[in-house]
Amino acid sequence: PVPPSPEGGTNQTHTQLCLQIEVGTLAPRPKDPKTLPELGETTSGTPNLQPPSGAGPVPPAPIPRQGLPSCLLCLCLGSSVYCDEAELEQIPALPPDTAFLYARFNRIGAVRANDFRGLEKLKRIDLSSNSISWADADAFRGLPSLQELLLPENRLTALPELPRSIVRLDARLNRIPSAGLRPEAFRDLKQLQFLHLSDNQLDFIPVPLPESLRSLHLQNNNIQTMHEDTFCDSQEQGQIRRALEDIRLDGNPINLSLFPNAFSCLPRLPTGRFS
Ligand SMILES: *[C@@H]1O[C@H](CO)[C@@H](O)[C@H](O)[C@H]1NC(C)=O
Repeated sequence: PVPPSPEGGTNQTHTQLCLQIEVGTLAPRPKDPKTLPELGETTSGTPNLQPPSGAGPVPPAPIPRQGLPSCLLCLCLGSSVYCDEAELEQIPALPPDTAFLYARFNRIGAVRANDFRGLEKLKRIDLSSNSISWADADAFRGLPSLQELLLPENRLTALPELPRSIVRLDARLNRIPSAGLRPEAFRDLKQLQFLHLSDNQLDFIPVPLPESLRSLHLQNNNIQTMHEDTFCDSQEQGQIRRALEDIRLDGNPINLSLFPNAFSCLPRLPTGRFS
């Protein structure tokens, strides 16, 4: 969703009054003209690019982003915090009532256990298109309201633990091998409906999959084989898994016609190679 323009009325609450300040305006650049070679300067032959020793300007200290109220770096509207394209290198400190966080297209490299601590109203975290190569295992686990965790286009090699409230997990376009998933990682996630792990390095379809699951995207991984019981219980005649109607296995080196009984309980066949 696109934030409405923050024109606002006269009854704005404190949170709604947060201003968006361009990060660039907070960081004065070390641009002392005396240290830069003049374009027309020819008197000394090759221009001296070194600043004069001892007299050079001291570059400003990096902004202590963690110490700034996040509403100075981001746009806060109600319970939503918009930090897209803000050159962030870490998760900013968030107002305690944050429900929706958008921090897409930044340079965040890691998610730490403390980053979201105590944010009990957080429902959606969108960290698409960052550089996240590490997430502490318990960075998200303790968030009681978290329904959507969006991590596509990062560099993860392991999936953090998920809270039971999770409905949608999107970790497309990462580098996650099957060893990066805990055993039975999704078994107890009884609300999980969308599990999107396409374009990773998975060797297996993760099992067991909760009955709530509606959409499983595993295209473009390295899945070569599967158990007949992955989707349907071969012991249970007449089983129907009506919810699971969108399975993508295309782009994997698996011949699905070798598993003729694996899909009998599904409303439709997976997308993938059957010959
Ligand atoms: C896929 O499996 C089917 C059924 O066993 C077989 O006829 C077909 O040749 C296999 N395709 C490939 C490319 O191995």
